Amino acid sequence: MSIRILATSPLVGPALADLGARFPDLHFAPFRSPDWNAALAQTEALVVLVTEPLTEADLDAAPRLKAIGAYSVGVNHVPVAACRARGIAVVNTPGVLTDATADIALTLLMALTRRVAEGEALVRSGAWQGWAPDQLLGSGLAGKACGILGSGPIGQAFARRVRILGMTPIFWDREGRGGEVDFGGGRASRMPMVDLLSRSAVFSIHCPLTEQTRGLLDRASMEKLPAGAMIINTARGGIMDEAAAIDLLESGHLGGVGLDVYEGEPHINPRWLRAPRTVLLPHLGSATVETRASMAQLLCDGLATALGALG
Ligand code: DGY
Repeated sequence: MSIRILATSPLVGPALADLGARFPDLHFAPFRSPDWNAALAQTEALVVLVTEPLTEADLDAAPRLKAIGAYSVGVNHVPVAACRARGIAVVNTPGVLTDATADIALTLLMALTRRVAEGEALVRSGAWQGWAPDQLLGSGLAGKACGILGSGPIGQAFARRVRILGMTPIFWDREGRGGEVDFGGGRASRMPMVDLLSRSAVFSIHCPLTEQTRGLLDRASMEKLPAGAMIINTARGGIMDEAAAIDLLESGHLGGVGLDVYEGEPHINPRWLRAPRTVLLPHLGSATVETRASMAQLLCDGLATALGALG
């Protein structure tokens, strides 16, 4: 039996081509191209990007589908429960983008607190007149608490990074277990959201987008952050109420917001472009050559395993 794989992108590195050597019926089609449904009808395995939201209608159009490879750790763009009900395996890329994503969160933190974007713009504008005692003063981080929403691998990797800066990482106690998180660089307290918010000079989001976490960081939550607190989001846009965050930046309650992800990206709320004290990146969390190649390898290994029984 010929096993057809449909991919929307060749991914990064050799992994998908290597998979094609084992399963030669490998086809490419842009997501939702005019013949998308016809292609789905012939497909045993589908490879999609984080920007390509699949629906149950796609599953209906793909009666032969046995596996979906999501080129991401997040699977909020895949109808996972419906896949499970239909016996379709969902393969994603956990583990290999942990450090790259934590690095981007740290980059946002440093850029915000040391006003990197403003400093760079000043130099490039040609208007810089030289060093001055009070020029572009940022905020120090040592001794301050960093609230981390999500104690999975990326949240823990971010905790290790902020600990090196002299910050105290603290975690959200989602299950009400209390106690501490061993984050691989020490132990950090786990606490209810209300305490996490009230103590956080910096608040960084590292949980998946699910029905439980959608809108979790709402206006009322952000108002509980200390005045001048900064928010970093490298997880998913829908977890934070963006309009409320912009209001609170404009009112001066928030000291800064650093974003790598947006609700409805790549369309972003135009108010972000005018909002003060922001650093805005285009979803670069996993964007290193090494990481994207490792993601492709992990994805293709998973698909090979899922399809192996058919081949
Ligand atoms: C993910 O993997 O979920 C990132 O958002 C993209 O790499």
